Amino acid sequence: MRLVIGISGASGAVYGIRALQVLKKLGVETHLVMTNAALETIRLETDYDKTEVERLATETHRIDDITSNVASGSYRTDGMLVIPCSMKTLAGIASGYSDNLLLRAADVTLKERRRLVLVVRETPLSLIHLENMVTVTRAGGVVLPAMPAFYNKPKTVDALIDQVVGKALDLLGVDHKLLKRWDGPGKQKQEGLRRTSK
Ligand SMILES: Cc1cc2nc3c(=O)[nH]c(=O)nc-3n(C[C@H](O)[C@H](O)[C@H](O)COP(=O)(O)O)c2cc1C
Repeated sequence: MRLVIGISGASGAVYGIRALQVLKKLGVETHLVMTNAALETIRLETDYDKTEVERLATETHRIDDITSNVASGSYRTDGMLVIPCSMKTLAGIASGYSDNLLLRAADVTLKERRRLVLVVRETPLSLIHLENMVTVTRAGGVVLPAMPAFYNKPKTVDALIDQVVGKALDLLGVDHKLLKRWDGPGKQKQEGLRRTSK
């Protein structure tokens, strides 16, 4: 399996890093494209540096390298995941304004009718953001907000991250064990995240 992974400059760089870690472990071939803003969020939000993130991918492509293989529809992939996806990158994809390699690769994914999953992150959402999500959805993409659920009583931040990453990988047809899947109320464990007060 071969996937393109885009990391843009929305908060939640850790989601992209976790996705790369899991895909590497599963032996999935990954082509990584990071925006300049993503390099900033990785620096500000995580303990990783650029080289460590790049090492998690099979191949890393420069954001301005529009000659890269993933810029062409003739290069076969099984889809693309943008994780996290900023509102700017969302806007670029929605408008088809492909002025960097991440945007071009997403444009190619849509035109070739391959699976494109955008793990968008912003709050609150303006009408512009919402309309861009509708546009991408109409074009065949899947918008997956970085929005974990709590019905499985997650106990750690890592569990919340894995839930978002796991949902995204599900949509790309990756077989993984990141999610505690809902199996009816009787089988859920009783313990959950602790509240500071009742
Ligand atoms: C620490 C930090 C957190 C940010 N969080 C978000 C966010 O959650 N969503 C978003 O759309 N933009 C966010 N931004 C702003 C984007 O990084 C900015 O719009 C940037 O131009 C996006 O560029 P890119 O789409 O090419 O990565 C954040 C910026 C910083 C520095």
